[in-house]
Amino acid sequence: MCAQRVELRQLVKVFPTPGGTEVRAVDGIDLVIEPGEMVTFLGPSGCGKTTTLRMVAGFEVPTSGQILIGDEDISKKAPNERDTAMVFQSYALFPHMTVEENIGYGLRFRKEMKRDYTDRIEKIMSLVGLEGMNKRSPGQLSGGQQQRVALARALVVEPQVLLFDEPLSNLDAKLREQMREEIRRVQQRLRITAIYVTHDQSEAMALSDKIVVMHQGKIEQVGTPQEIYQRPTSRFVADFIGKVNFLPCKVLRHENDETEVEAFGQPFKVYGVPAIQGPAALVVRPEAISLHVSEGIPVKVESTVYLGSAMEYRVVLPNGERVTIMHTNPNLNQLFKVDQEAFLQLDPHATHLLPMN
Ligand SMILES: Nc1ncnc2c1ncn2[C@@H]1O[C@H](COP(=O)(O)OP(=O)(O)OP(=O)(O)O)[C@@H](O)[C@H]1O
Ligand SMILES: [Mg+2]
Repeated sequence: MCAQRVELRQLVKVFPTPGGTEVRAVDGIDLVIEPGEMVTFLGPSGCGKTTTLRMVAGFEVPTSGQILIGDEDISKKAPNERDTAMVFQSYALFPHMTVEENIGYGLRFRKEMKRDYTDRIEKIMSLVGLEGMNKRSPGQLSGGQQQRVALARALVVEPQVLLFDEPLSNLDAKLREQMREEIRRVQQRLRITAIYVTHDQSEAMALSDKIVVMHQGKIEQVGTPQEIYQRPTSRFVADFIGKVNFLPCKVLRHENDETEVEAFGQPFKVYGVPAIQGPAALVVRPEAISLHVSEGIPVKVESTVYLGSAMEYRVVLPNGERVTIMHTNPNLNQLFKVDQEAFLQLDPHATHLLPMN
């Protein structure tokens, strides 16, 4: 199997609605996915993730634009003429067929040789951890095992591009984490190009080489999980990926990598942030702020939440603004209490800067 590059060029999908207005579900997407890469489409409900994926699979016809796999424009090809395979949220298994019949089903349409067939199914079953379950029916499997069958069925046809639409959302939290690691392991082992749709940010962070954050049919930002988390290019992205504080500030000067701002009435330096003029905001994750008994910006503790692995504090600045702080691995002998006076400090290397609006 040779990994393929996927390219979306000015991809648009407009749906007519009964009322006569139209929905621009996908609104001009340009994207390159390198061979063997795992790319996640992440965004709120209705932003166009599934529609984009379905166009790559051939289940929707683009209104305009192109989809290339390798050098070939596949936009006009039928789903079964494309080398793609999809894993769905509802596993879409055939209840009256055994596990091995379900997995082998896709091969029938690819006119595979009978001889080759059993070997290949066995290999894939062991790759996804389904050894010995050949003769069971889907009804005799757990949710996680059914999802493995769905994954095996997609892999057995050796597609050039593997597509996932929220494949883990029917599983409980623990199994979801386990399965996402397995999907990543299999994808890397086979070095197969993959597109994964989710609205779960931790899933996207854990799985992806690159995350594509979508918003209202458009791409908001493309980057590695670290870039998306640490250096979001918009407030929307910063907000969508986990908790974040926006603290108004004034930019005093930029010099090379160093930016000086005035925040909370004090000068403060941040590093490696974009050069911004005018009103700005410091963008700080709760875990990049710490609370102390002395030294720093004076605050008052408003609320505390014990989360086991972390302590979450909500504090109020003298100007009335609220800040969320996360102390991981909290020292239980040194917890702050509601109404206590304290001092906060920001990690200048984990603080980002964005325009105010
Ligand atoms: N067949 C259709 N006819 C009309 N509108 C559609 C159709 N399919 C999707 N849409 C609309 O297109 C937009 C994008 O839908 P899409 O299913 O791609 O969103 P999504 O990002 O996958 O959302 P979710 O996270 O809820 O699955 C939505 O406004 C949706 O209502
Ligand atoms: Mg969807």
